[in-house]
Amino acid sequence: MVVTLSALLLAALSSAHAASVTVREVASFPVGTWLENLAVRANGQLLVTHLDVPELWSLDPLTGHSVRLAQFPGVTSALGIAEIAHDVFAVATANYSTATGATPGTSAVWTVDLRAANATVTKIADVPQAGILNGIVPSPDGRGILAADSVVGAVYRVDLHTGKSSTVLSGTAYEAPANAVLPLGVNGVHISSRSSSPTLYFTNTGAGFFARVAIHQNGTAAGDVEVVKDGLELPDDFALATSDGSAVVTLNQVRSLITISAHGERVQVAGGSNSTDFATPTAVQFGRTLFDRTTVYVTTGGVRDATGSALTSAKVLAVALN
Ligand SMILES: *[C@@H]1O[C@H](CO)[C@@H](O)[C@H](O)[C@H]1NC(C)=O
Ligand SMILES: *[C@@H]1O[C@H](CO)[C@@H](O)[C@H](O)[C@H]1NC(C)=O
Ligand SMILES: *[C@@H]1O[C@H](CO)[C@@H](O)[C@H](O)[C@H]1NC(C)=O
Ligand SMILES: *[C@@H]1O[C@H](CO)[C@@H](O)[C@H](O)[C@H]1NC(C)=O
Repeated sequence: MVVTLSALLLAALSSAHAASVTVREVASFPVGTWLENLAVRANGQLLVTHLDVPELWSLDPLTGHSVRLAQFPGVTSALGIAEIAHDVFAVATANYSTATGATPGTSAVWTVDLRAANATVTKIADVPQAGILNGIVPSPDGRGILAADSVVGAVYRVDLHTGKSSTVLSGTAYEAPANAVLPLGVNGVHISSRSSSPTLYFTNTGAGFFARVAIHQNGTAAGDVEVVKDGLELPDDFALATSDGSAVVTLNQVRSLITISAHGERVQVAGGSNSTDFATPTAVQFGRTLFDRTTVYVTTGGVRDATGSALTSAKVLAVALN
């Protein structure tokens, strides 16, 4: 009985207490900026997409020095980003307004090739059936990307060789519920490299859960959707830890960064309801160098009022996990 009690007590303590972490502001961007997503290059530099302008920026995680790398003509916003080959990144774009939302039918996928001194920006495909492309991840078949459509509530496979796209995952698990605070379904998508057969992890923002589904090489489902953790306050994008199968997840509504273990235990890591640093955290990624492998970088969009006007700056934060 004593053993059971201590086990219960320990479990209660570990879930109630925030993990011990250090938060450092890497960079702050002018009020009105909305940082939407990020990727980390093999050389450790951060690549950050902007939602308020159609731009991709590079950011040094040590000095905070930032420089615009690429612009996407004919659209208003850049969203998801994923590395598809060494130093070649796919980026999703769309017309999106922080006041009125997405314009359906405006989404596209581009590549930004950083292998030469100057970035090469190439439009690969329009994805006209999309409400808005949001999170993206390389497809297991190595020919393209899987892209979340948060408005329609589906995941597409976009073939980067042919430019053709098709729906690979759909159904209520990917859709926002009718009564959602925010009408966004599937948002962040990442594939676990921990098992031989691919597993897609995803957040459903409006439904407030983090889930996984086994997929085939072509992105179609190879099993049922399993909810890892529900009751989340508007989860946005996340990062998977390769070490233990846990995830670091951003929560828009409570301005927080949390971890969710492979078994679904939730621990508060940083931020909090009134945090100005973690105001609308949008995405998170682990560092890739020897020095920052246990650090995650977080992008934020800042706080906006009901009309979409920005009130606080957008930031990139470094959170050293212990
Ligand atoms: C997006 O909006 C811009 C500016 O409002 C407009 O010129 C452009 O045609 C739109 N793009 C698409 C794909 O509809
Ligand atoms: C890279 O871009 C800069 C600025 O536009 C230009 O001066 C330079 O010639 C370009 N370098 C190459 C290798 O294209
Ligand atoms: C995807 O791959 C699975 C397993 O190989 C196959 O059964 C299915 O027909 C494929 N679907 C498409 C749309 O290619
Ligand atoms: C946030 O601020 C509000 C208003 O000042 C306060 O009532 C609330 O307790 C604060 N929440 C936290 C988690 O500190």
